[in-house]
Amino acid sequence: MSAQQNFQSQPSDIVICSAPKTGTTWLKSLTFAIVTRTTFDDSTSPLLANLSHDCVPFLEVDLAQSSTNRDPKNPLLATHVPYSSLPRSIIDSSCKIVYICRNPKDSFVSFYHFIARLSASKDMKPVALEEAFELYCQGVSNYGPYWDHVLGFWKASLDRPDKILFLKYEEMIEDTILYVKKLADFIGYPFSSEEIKKGSIDKIVSMCSFENLSNLEVNKSGKHREGTPGVIENKIYFRKGKVGDWENYLTPEMATQLDSITLQKLNGSDLTL
Ligand code: A3P
Repeated sequence: MSAQQNFQSQPSDIVICSAPKTGTTWLKSLTFAIVTRTTFDDSTSPLLANLSHDCVPFLEVDLAQSSTNRDPKNPLLATHVPYSSLPRSIIDSSCKIVYICRNPKDSFVSFYHFIARLSASKDMKPVALEEAFELYCQGVSNYGPYWDHVLGFWKASLDRPDKILFLKYEEMIEDTILYVKKLADFIGYPFSSEEIKKGSIDKIVSMCSFENLSNLEVNKSGKHREGTPGVIENKIYFRKGKVGDWENYLTPEMATQLDSITLQKLNGSDLTL
């Protein structure tokens, strides 16, 4: 509520929006690498020594009290807040919004593991998969029901395609180069033909790949928000980075149940997940 009331967006801002566990860490890395590519390359990027969440602040955590503690040279910020709850200044300003979504079955499985690993690191009792699944299906999730979150940004992206770029994790995994180019064009940092010839896009894609980022020392042993109650081991943000891993955790009945909720919720929207 504090961020909602106090945050003042600039026209140059680029706001990365997502529900948790849909590819936020990756999208932050790619966008940060695109925006900073004239200052850093793939051997000097801050992403090699910092988790991307330490390079791109979260609106509702890092900027909740004041927008003045931002680095004036960094136009990027991120949020998990649903579209309907974004600060008015983000909706009204000419800043760009990039949203990423993911198949709900993979997103749920990713979220379940994240919470399990977080609970283990804080000596808390883990939640059973079945219980977490029931809650998820009922819409009991951080930042609200998953489908409402996605539909809020989907509808807004149809109304304002110049302002909101709607991305899917699976499509980005399938053709990352294409989507990095699209992303750069959309946020106003297009690659020149010279850069494309030099392989700048490929370098960013490789640097931000799951394999590369998850094997960096900072992401194997570093901590995010160290010294605060919200401390999280960086490695928890990297698990498998695969499409379809839900098959290893959900029963066919669970998959059918989640699929039918998704079909029902997205009915009439022209969106598939
Ligand atoms: P899995 O748990 O399925 O592996 P978020 O960043 O929104 O918290 O989402 C986390 C999910 O993104 C995790 O999925 C994580 O492994 C995956 N991920 C993290 N970095 C990635 C990268 N560079 N490329 C692809 N997926 C990545």
